[in-house]
Amino acid sequence: MGFYTYYRKIAKKIPSIGFGGRANEDALINYASQVPENGNILEFGPFLGSSTAFLACGVLKSGRKNVTICSVDNWVINESYQRQLKKHHIEMEIGHNFRSEFFDNLKPFPVKIIISDISKEEIRWGLIANHFMSDEKIHLVVDDSDNHKIPTDHMFQNLSPYFTPNVTIIMLLDFFWGKVKKLRDLDYQVDFMEANKEVFQLIECIPAPSLGAAFLYKGGKINYEVKQP
Ligand SMILES: C[S@@+](CC[C@H](N)C(=O)[O-])C[C@H]1O[C@@H](n2cnc3c(N)ncnc32)[C@H](O)[C@@H]1O
Repeated sequence: MGFYTYYRKIAKKIPSIGFGGRANEDALINYASQVPENGNILEFGPFLGSSTAFLACGVLKSGRKNVTICSVDNWVINESYQRQLKKHHIEMEIGHNFRSEFFDNLKPFPVKIIISDISKEEIRWGLIANHFMSDEKIHLVVDDSDNHKIPTDHMFQNLSPYFTPNVTIIMLLDFFWGKVKKLRDLDYQVDFMEANKEVFQLIECIPAPSLGAAFLYKGGKINYEVKQP
């Protein structure tokens, strides 16, 4: 078995909830494999590391030795995650911090992975980049966490100074979910991207069950005055 196939097989075994890692396997590998040497991937909502593992597979596929993945999560089990994990025959207490399970799952992958436990609404990329990164620029953002207005706006306000036009890719893994399921409060990111279509170019709709999308940052001023009907 080839080197890369071996790691992909390990990644497939990590439990994934919602339509995270497993549903976005090819796209995660594809975009991570395009991140340049010394580049950075910033992921929101890795949970037990399924999506992270496919990102790591992409880095390994590219053969680059110095790409960093930074995974941001609250790392705490709530009732919904507890219920979804039962389908994988995994029992975790509500309130359990799952950071150590994340690290155990990612241990086999020879890729630099760091974590942050500051929530998406509060994270400051500048501080992380100063401490851990060889390049402060962000080449790939993957969001599989909370797609409401406050965390989404904060994500773009905090991160966009570190984007590079025509290079940085944004993957929003739950992008079409709110629209398709008619869950009005979960479709903010669609309105946000509609209001910013000159700044972010849609480059891929990731097919069901993912319902995610990928965008290329083109540069320009981001509009946060997003109208929601
Ligand atoms: C649906 S799960 C992600 C599934 C995962 N990507 C996979 O491949 O299995 C959502 C994750 O987002 C995290 N999360 C939700 N809201 C967050 C926030 N505001 N800040 C940081 N993490 C958050 C949760 O703790 C959870 O781990």
